[in-house]
Amino acid sequence: MNKLDELFRGKAKSVYATDDADKLILFFRDDTSAFDGKKIEQLSRKGMVNNKFNAFIMQKLEEAGINTHFDSLLSEQESVVKHLEMFPIECVVRNITAGSICRRLGIEEGKDINPPTFEFFLKDDSLGDPMINEFHIQSFGWAEAEHVEKMKQLTFAVNDVLKALFLEGGMLLVDYKLEFGLFKGEVVLGDEFTPDGCRLWDKETRKKLDKDRFRQGLGGVIEAYEEVGHRIGVKFED
Ligand code: TMP
Ligand code: ASP
Repeated sequence: MNKLDELFRGKAKSVYATDDADKLILFFRDDTSAFDGKKIEQLSRKGMVNNKFNAFIMQKLEEAGINTHFDSLLSEQESVVKHLEMFPIECVVRNITAGSICRRLGIEEGKDINPPTFEFFLKDDSLGDPMINEFHIQSFGWAEAEHVEKMKQLTFAVNDVLKALFLEGGMLLVDYKLEFGLFKGEVVLGDEFTPDGCRLWDKETRKKLDKDRFRQGLGGVIEAYEEVGHRIGVKFED
């Protein structure tokens, strides 16, 4: 399989075409961005860490019966994935209050959410990724009703698998964001699952081990990502 042109450059990953129309190459760059691209920095080893972290999680999800786009690790910073047609939607599940829900609803950080709650956001940095609802998705044609149902079902299925996985490593899965696409008519998990797109706290100390370290300037960002990985069994060294 040969790597062809860059099709898309995101804030932290670049997507390349290949000579197989059904496959893409994701290149995890060392860039870290937050606040819809307003804060961007290069963090050494980040691309490698997130590439291997994502591969590990996607394989765990596949083992649990959740279809993902992941195919194989190609290099330190690259993975081969299925070529999905992405929905312009972000699916967020929250188990504990943090981030935007605290600002929007005036709730303090760290409260358990029972049952876990679900939110859709429109993937559009220029608009600040606004929260949307299922009526918006239907009315503006961003996804069909049956695909929306499937995205919700899969996002909650991911919660069951990953809450347990992180808890075994002494961590709380506070919240996370997933993106889906269609592959040959099926809704499949795409994008990535790394500490860039979720919140993870140490269960005892509630130390933040995710991108909030970057957003809030707490330092030790990649060290925290590696610690999370080590605690759940990700191998970063060859
Ligand atoms: P929020 O608190 O900013 O709404 O984010 C909730 C979770 O989803 C948090 O773990 C970060 C993740 N997220 C992204 O990674 N990208 C996004 O564009 C959004 C809206 C959320
Ligand atoms: N991923 C979103 C962004 O880049 C949210 C964040 O990470 O702050 O703005």
